[in-house]
Amino acid sequence: MKLSRCWKMRPRVAFYPCCHLDILEPLALLAPYVDEVIFCDINAALLSRWRKSIASLSGPPSASFLIGDVRQVISSVKEIDILFYRGDSPGEDGSGVFVLGDSFLPFILERFHADGGLIITDGSNSRGSNFERMIRPNGLAKHGWLFRKCSDQPFVEKHRLHVIDVKSARSAQPIKNQ
Ligand SMILES: C[S@@+](CC[C@H](N)C(=O)[O-])C[C@H]1O[C@@H](n2cnc3c(N)ncnc32)[C@H](O)[C@@H]1O
Repeated sequence: MKLSRCWKMRPRVAFYPCCHLDILEPLALLAPYVDEVIFCDINAALLSRWRKSIASLSGPPSASFLIGDVRQVISSVKEIDILFYRGDSPGEDGSGVFVLGDSFLPFILERFHADGGLIITDGSNSRGSNFERMIRPNGLAKHGWLFRKCSDQPFVEKHRLHVIDVKSARSAQPIKNQ
């Protein structure tokens, strides 16, 4: 499936948890796909640096900033079309939040539109091989959603980011051989 084909036109929102200072490149990468990117980090000291870094940009997409523990502030995010997530780790400098793991991912998926959405990720903080299974040829069925690698992968060579199509299990073709 082409990325452009699995993506219909309506206002779109991307959510990037644990972003640190990774603002400008995600805005550029996501520009063809979303109208707004919500960046989230627990470190309130980043806010002034985020604002400075976007001062000369005019968008779209627009950038908004959410300060707090993503496990708590996720409830204030209304709708997500794209989960963008990279560069995190369980180690000392990382968040230790398994955003792609089974405990937290369902809270993000709850905010996906019924039509589904995309996950754009390097596979950071994935537990139980979720990421590896999402990008295998058969994809992954979990939490009432089907995850499949899009055939169009515009970011993989330069940025090592994979684009994963997320569809409600009710509306998508079943996945064989789990
Ligand atoms: C390794 S850095 C992320 C780097 C960034 N993704 C990149 O690619 O440049 C981890 C970030 O997660 C943030 N963080 C730690 N715990 C968090 C939490 N519970 N919720 C949201 N952000 C958190 C830290 O403040 C830090 O900025």
